[in-house]
Amino acid sequence: MSPTREQWGSRLGFILAAMGSAVGLGNIWRFSYVTGENGGAAFLLVYILCIALIGIPILMAEFTIGKKAQSDVVGSFQKLAPGKPWITAGILGVASAFIILSFYAVIAGWSVYYFVQYVIGGINTDPGDFFGGFITDPVQPILWQFIFMVLTVGVVYVGVKKGIEAANKILMPLLAVLVIVLAGYSFTLGGTQEALSFLFTPDWSALTNPDVYLAALGQAFFSLSLGMGALITYGSYLKKEDKLPGAAVSVAGLDTGFAILAGLMIFPAVFAFGINPADGPGLVFVVLPGIFESLGGMGQVFGILFFFLLAAAALSSAVSLLEVAVAYFMRQFNWSRKQTSLIIGAIIFLLGIPSSLGMGVWSDVTFFGKDILDSMDFIASNVFLPLGGLIIALFIGWGWKRVDALEASDFGESTWGTVWLGILRYFAPIAIFVIFLRSIGLF
Ligand code: PHE
Ligand code: NA
Repeated sequence: MSPTREQWGSRLGFILAAMGSAVGLGNIWRFSYVTGENGGAAFLLVYILCIALIGIPILMAEFTIGKKAQSDVVGSFQKLAPGKPWITAGILGVASAFIILSFYAVIAGWSVYYFVQYVIGGINTDPGDFFGGFITDPVQPILWQFIFMVLTVGVVYVGVKKGIEAANKILMPLLAVLVIVLAGYSFTLGGTQEALSFLFTPDWSALTNPDVYLAALGQAFFSLSLGMGALITYGSYLKKEDKLPGAAVSVAGLDTGFAILAGLMIFPAVFAFGINPADGPGLVFVVLPGIFESLGGMGQVFGILFFFLLAAAALSSAVSLLEVAVAYFMRQFNWSRKQTSLIIGAIIFLLGIPSSLGMGVWSDVTFFGKDILDSMDFIASNVFLPLGGLIIALFIGWGWKRVDALEASDFGESTWGTVWLGILRYFAPIAIFVIFLRSIGLF
């Protein structure tokens, strides 16, 4: 370990940063449209099972690896298991960081644009037309994607402690309050009955569709920032005396709470406005402006606040994505943090441009019927992240000695420790494997 490696200012700082990574566009933008596309309640149920039975144990595994190794995602595997194939998870993780951040910045750019739009007066035309006009423009969205990437690089450039720890303390509670207030208002719009049955009364026939399981698994990994070493990297800035299991459960609980609240905010309005819940990635960018419009004069204030906080939440997630790649390249090539953030940030920005163009001028470019952004998202979230998580689970479950794993995780010899290891050894790998096989139609 290099003597200059940073550490978190406090255990609270670490938990807040991990929460900042978890809570982002995944909870509001991605959760609502994926839930909408997959039929609502049955998907939500599988999603919550994925969080509880696969997500939290692997979250713990990542924290444990990071804290023990005190290195970046690739370095951690090199250090703990030199010359072993486990390092594949590290390489997949860095690749996922590039792919996810490339399209994440596109959507985050949309949020920044909407924020600015509300500052200068709000959206006074049909929200659907407005959104469509904006995302199909070949230049505008890329400009906002660029602005968002500059912000992300700026934070990572300044460094872990100063950059990330402070802002989360104020902005996340604010976002929570705002989402609750908006959910309350959304309930008055007239679509509540339909929304509640859509979200909480499962249509069991949806469970015969294998895509629902992969979508839920991918959403669980994406939303928890899991399977690509973001949480290994954050865990690596922990001091030895910091305790892990409580942190893992709080991060997952908060993240899931945010997602469900977002659902309660979006879906009543979706049904009240007669929008199709399966409308896809534009859902929140059309529904929320609709809500704000119906608020009359106050709408602009809510629009400003909401899109500001959404962009801020996206920023703390984007920072954790960039940090995975930067921490790796810094050590690997002995570059400075500043130099690395600029170079990697520039590459990721360029990599994201096709995702943006795929909304308009390149909309003919599709893979298996998905546009460019959707394809990037599918590969990273539904394939790389669960695969990374599978390897991480096997690594601790089978590559570590039982006593070491229990000690490093702070479980010690305890029932929970035994359950945790059992899940990492058997349940999580088998479940992920089966979901993969089902989705490629093997059974
Ligand atoms: N969890 C973040 C969100 O919900 C996205 C993310 C994925 C961040 C993977 C880091 C790693 O928005
Ligand atoms: Na999330």
